[in-house]
Amino acid sequence: MAKGDKKNEWKEFFWNPRTREFCGRTASSWGLIFLFYLAFYIFLAGMFILTMYVMLLTLDDNKPTYQDRLATPGLMIRPKGEEMEIIYAKENTESWDTHVQALNSFLSPYNDSVQEQKNYACKPDQYFKQEDSDSVKNNPKRSCQFRRSILEDCSGLTDRYYGYDEGKPCIIIKLNRVIGMLPGKDGQAPSISCAPKKYKIGKDEWIDDTDKMGEVAYFPRNGTFNLMYFPYYGKKAQVNYSQPLVAIKFLNITLNTEINVECKIIANNIPNLNERDKFAGRVSFKLRINSRN
Ligand SMILES: *[C@@H]1O[C@H](CO)[C@@H](O)[C@H](O)[C@H]1NC(C)=O
Ligand SMILES: *[C@@H]1O[C@H](CO)[C@@H](O)[C@H](O)[C@H]1NC(C)=O
Ligand SMILES: *[C@@H]1O[C@H](CO)[C@@H](O)[C@H](O)[C@H]1NC(C)=O
Ligand SMILES: *[C@@H]1O[C@H](CO)[C@@H](O)[C@H](O)[C@H]1NC(C)=O
Repeated sequence: MAKGDKKNEWKEFFWNPRTREFCGRTASSWGLIFLFYLAFYIFLAGMFILTMYVMLLTLDDNKPTYQDRLATPGLMIRPKGEEMEIIYAKENTESWDTHVQALNSFLSPYNDSVQEQKNYACKPDQYFKQEDSDSVKNNPKRSCQFRRSILEDCSGLTDRYYGYDEGKPCIIIKLNRVIGMLPGKDGQAPSISCAPKKYKIGKDEWIDDTDKMGEVAYFPRNGTFNLMYFPYYGKKAQVNYSQPLVAIKFLNITLNTEINVECKIIANNIPNLNERDKFAGRVSFKLRINSRN
């Protein structure tokens, strides 16, 4: 009968009809516990909302309160290819058409007409500063025009295939946005420089593809990002901002072989030999153009 006793004990614990207790407590005791927790959680939620509200009051919509100091901005290429590899066959239109399409859509916001409508023709070769005064916010801020025609042979206007059909492809390089960055000092604009990337072929043996890369041309011709595109004030303050671009055209690249290229930003106030961060201020990619002849 011991088994039945245990079962009854349990049953009684769960609901005791004599004392009218549920799980060892009366209804009013349960009610008090419930009330206590309700008040407790309402208090916690209130605290949370209050601190959140006070925090948000201290934030400025147009400027990050905290920002990691990026000494060197990142670079990106267009077209990206797959895994930064641009491989195509000159005679096979389909193999490069996706690159041409990617450049077309990337450059469409840079259409001269679009830029003239949205943006301001700034004075070149100097920073375009639009600081707020203490009481008056200078928002929204204007942005400078970057018209795609500046990219000449790589603008897609004179040569609508960006040289891909001739085996002289254009690659467009853009500088990632960094709020408040003022690259270059003493009026010297930052520029892009591309060179064959050194790679390891054996123990302590490094080579590069200097002889295979051939001559390149930059657009704009001096390969610079004009100072007037800096500083950048953030997406909210500067809604129409267009990142400046530099295009590089490979004029005499060796066909049917893979070429490793690395492009860097050169500015007199950006340390570009940062060995700790392999991606700061530089971008590397592989280029291979196949051809039957
Ligand atoms: C940009 O201009 C080209 C011709 O110059 C036109 O075909 C294209 O539709 C334009 N794109 C936009 C987004 O306006
Ligand atoms: C942004 O561009 C739009 C047109 O697309 C224009 O109406 C607006 O004034 C521009 N804003 C600024 C701050 O330049
Ligand atoms: C680079 O070229 C652009 C456009 O051709 C020009 O506005 C700028 O002044 C030049 N910058 C330098 C440093 O030569
Ligand atoms: C193109 O490069 C080849 C070597 O790869 C060289 O022999 C030739 O002279 C170059 N042509 C021009 C126009 O620079």
